[in-house]
Amino acid sequence: MIINTIEWKNNKIRLIDQTKLPLKLEYLEIDKLEDLWEAIKLLKVRGAPALGAAAALGIYLGVKDANPEEFFSRLDKTAEYLASSRPTARNLFWGIEKMRSAALNNKDKSLAMLKKLLLAEANKIIKGDKESCRALGSFGSSLIEDGDTILTVCNAGILATIDYGTALGVIYRAQEEGKKVRVFSCETRPLLQGSRLTAWELDKKGVDVTVICDNTPASLMQQGRISKVIAGADRIAANGDSANKIGTHTLAVLSKYHNIPFYIAAPVSTFDLKTKTGKDIPIEERSRLEVTRILFNKQVAPSGVKVFNPAFDVTPHNLISAIITDKGVIREPYIRNIRRLIVNDKTQNDK
Ligand code: MRU
Repeated sequence: MIINTIEWKNNKIRLIDQTKLPLKLEYLEIDKLEDLWEAIKLLKVRGAPALGAAAALGIYLGVKDANPEEFFSRLDKTAEYLASSRPTARNLFWGIEKMRSAALNNKDKSLAMLKKLLLAEANKIIKGDKESCRALGSFGSSLIEDGDTILTVCNAGILATIDYGTALGVIYRAQEEGKKVRVFSCETRPLLQGSRLTAWELDKKGVDVTVICDNTPASLMQQGRISKVIAGADRIAANGDSANKIGTHTLAVLSKYHNIPFYIAAPVSTFDLKTKTGKDIPIEERSRLEVTRILFNKQVAPSGVKVFNPAFDVTPHNLISAIITDKGVIREPYIRNIRRLIVNDKTQNDK
């Protein structure tokens, strides 16, 4: 089953509307920047690497009809506008920066050539994501044993990338290598990415998946029913502190207590060396309606009650057994090993 989460097709951005899953696999065709911004804000497209691709295609969408006089001001405005959609995922900003550098490094080219180069750059980011997810999956699979039962949270799979996933890519690769793995997927309140998306795609790929409520992991760990935890990341600071879906930190604390390996899986495009520690990672706060209503429908909290709804939390690096990347698996000391990894990676050189 090949699913392209997001692509450029027929002069438009074509993406899966993830708010419709698991009931319908429906695609949106986007040719207006405002519609892309809204799709990002409402999590129709979501997950850090997919947001990087969305931002890259969005930059092209924003400048593709610009005339020579306005090209660079349109580029700046589009970049600023897309950057205002969601603050946490590093890949979104990385995608914008890659596109801006591609344009600025080719200032002397004709307008037609500049536009062509930008579309090529966006497609390169998409192709690069496919390759890096597969490399990450292969490094990560070396940590998986036949018979493992893996706990995951949110969705760090096909739907969060282009077509393979990070945390779930490790599982797909392990399965491709003939290892038998079972997965527990936390439902992931409030927007249920775990039950709606992770369960949907694992099931489609023939992986044995069981959905659990977000408050079930401690009990499963106590019973010895989880052998590993793997989560994705939205942004990884220079010291290895990792932001991911709210609730990930809870799983890391529980893993430490129960002596279970806790892994973060993310490509180098998720690392942010300018962010020194997790304290500096901007955490998105979302609408109260996500909490007071189940998927914006049935009301489940008193009208007017106070609500706090951060979308992400930060797992401190000392709770992370290893970070699985597309360039290899890294462990403590993270500051040194992350720096080495990024410095050796040419896709980060323009940072
Ligand atoms: O709010 P979301 O659904 O965009 O949150 C996504 C996550 O937390 C993912 O785990 C993360 O982006 C990694 S995706 C490979």
